[in-house]
Amino acid sequence: MYISNVFLLILIFASSAGVQAQLSVKKESFLPGKVWYDVDGDTINAHGGGFYYQDGIYYWYGEHKSRNSLAEVGVRVYSSKDLLNWKNEGVALAVSTDASSEITSGSVIERPKVIYNKKTRKYVLWFHLELKDRGYEAARTGVAVSDSPVGPFEYVKSYRPNAGVWPQNFSEHQKTKENATELRYEWWTGEWGKALEDGLYVRRDFEEGQMSRDMTVFVDDDNKAYHIHSSEENQTLHISLLTDDYLDFTDTWVRVQPGGQNEAPAVFKSGDYYYMVTSGLTGWDPNAARSFRAKSMLGPWESLGNPAKGKDADVTFNSQSTFILPVEGRKDTFIFMADRWNPKNHKDGRYVWLPLAIKNNSPEIKWIDEWNLNERRYVRQTESEK
Ligand code: DGJ
Repeated sequence: MYISNVFLLILIFASSAGVQAQLSVKKESFLPGKVWYDVDGDTINAHGGGFYYQDGIYYWYGEHKSRNSLAEVGVRVYSSKDLLNWKNEGVALAVSTDASSEITSGSVIERPKVIYNKKTRKYVLWFHLELKDRGYEAARTGVAVSDSPVGPFEYVKSYRPNAGVWPQNFSEHQKTKENATELRYEWWTGEWGKALEDGLYVRRDFEEGQMSRDMTVFVDDDNKAYHIHSSEENQTLHISLLTDDYLDFTDTWVRVQPGGQNEAPAVFKSGDYYYMVTSGLTGWDPNAARSFRAKSMLGPWESLGNPAKGKDADVTFNSQSTFILPVEGRKDTFIFMADRWNPKNHKDGRYVWLPLAIKNNSPEIKWIDEWNLNERRYVRQTESEK
């Protein structure tokens, strides 16, 4: 009896080791949209990802998803030297077991992004926060800090940004306009659209602070950090300068594309320009990406149209932007990183990583089935891309 049990154990161990070995074969290329295993052979669970590079190591932070999209675990972190083979570093920011915490289990924690503050020597994690049992109505941004890139991050607080402060690009007339009539306009009517562009929701939320849903953060060459988020009922992007410690908002902020309905912002810099890629507003469903450029983070931002080209460009290859990563040590080499959401089973959402090129000062993204960054060689191009 004892021997047969041991034998069985050995068999189980051997066969599971066999599966592991098969799954954890060293990855040599990116396979957009395919299941992606970490080095232990487990599926990578890091959606709405943000990336940070330090000392030869990339860190991938993302939403741990279960079947539904509520936060049950928190923000996961993985590390890699080559962007292909990722090691699970555990939970960077854990949900709280305290029911009164803003980040209690069952809240919504989305699009985590980490930046490093050279002055305070702290890693700063920003994320979109929705309070438990309130759907998406809280529209807040949360911040947490750590002494290590892999955490544990300690939750600091959440904000409705820029309470009591007008945007820089707001006129005196816009500040003093009366909202009462306009707040009664039906959504999606022309009157409503005009009122919105003229700052209806900025005035409505002036005291409480502006809404903040899909977001990202960006550190400029001069170490100034910016928080970029969908606001005004997701109709308008706001870009805000953060304080020197990256933990709070200054009084400097602008509205971008009023009424433009941009979500999923991803920002990077190349040459003389700051670039931004966003999506439109269709929930978990994909839509056509948009792109913009500016000479300053505070704008003005110029619209450049859909950066995706070729088949399925109208749905951004069935994905939605989350980050654009400059590859270390390679001039003008960027990876467009996006989520292919699966609302029927969120943990099976996929990652779509594609090369992003700058052509005539505009970003361009093309689908490729399999590609290899190290060799700068496309392994198997689609018919349409040959
Ligand atoms: C689209 C956003 O980009 C996602 O991060 C998520 O908030 C979904 N909407 C929720 O519907």
